[in-house]
Amino acid sequence: MANDVIIALDFPTREETLTFLDRFPAGEKPFVKIGMELYYAEGPAIIREMKARGHKIFLDLKLHDIPNTVKRAMSVLSRLDVDMVNLHAAGASEMMKAALEGLTRPDGSRPLLIAVTQLTSTDAAALKNELLIDAPMEETVLSYAQNAARCGLDGVVCSPLEASLVKARCGENFLTVTPGIRFADGDAGDQKRIMTPELAGKSGCDYIVVGRPITQAADPVAACRRAAKEFLG
Ligand code: C5P
Repeated sequence: MANDVIIALDFPTREETLTFLDRFPAGEKPFVKIGMELYYAEGPAIIREMKARGHKIFLDLKLHDIPNTVKRAMSVLSRLDVDMVNLHAAGASEMMKAALEGLTRPDGSRPLLIAVTQLTSTDAAALKNELLIDAPMEETVLSYAQNAARCGLDGVVCSPLEASLVKARCGENFLTVTPGIRFADGDAGDQKRIMTPELAGKSGCDYIVVGRPITQAADPVAACRRAAKEFLG
């Protein structure tokens, strides 16, 4: 069920990030996604600053390592008080379960844990010839999602076009976090499999991740409000 719009803060520095966020009125605190570029440039300080400013944070670092290392790293991220984090389902069940353990705080609370299935940049040829996976792409995506659900994860990052298939396989409550969102009158840019916020809301997406249609808009605040209005209906 349509829950929230997450703005992808794909900026290289703290300064550019704050300049962008300062355009929003004081009481308006969008849910934001911080990825590798900004996190590696600015470190955990950028997370603390965003939290102090009142934002919810999806920390998009896509962890993938041995279970013990992921567990310990997740424990650190959990103490940063982020709201959503992710990992690669390709790390398999033991790693996903360890991640959940690491994330869980002493009071039992934890950030949402979301799995990346197959990266959208991996095409069918790479799947077969490099990763040596013979199953069709869609089946690997759904099977990875099902593994994540069985391990107790909260959802997956997927295309809005896959959201209903994921729900059918993993249950209605399994969250779908979907990039590839464009306004009906907007530029697709490099995204190929796109959907409007309105259709994403009707297709069972729980969170839409919107980058350039908001960050590059002449009026980002209006664009963010428009995305939320269309998505939440
Ligand atoms: O600017 P745009 O709306 O295309 O940004 C989408 C965001 O979602 C970017 O941060 C991008 O890295 C991320 N993403 C994606 N497709 C995926 C996974 C993540 O576009 N499959």
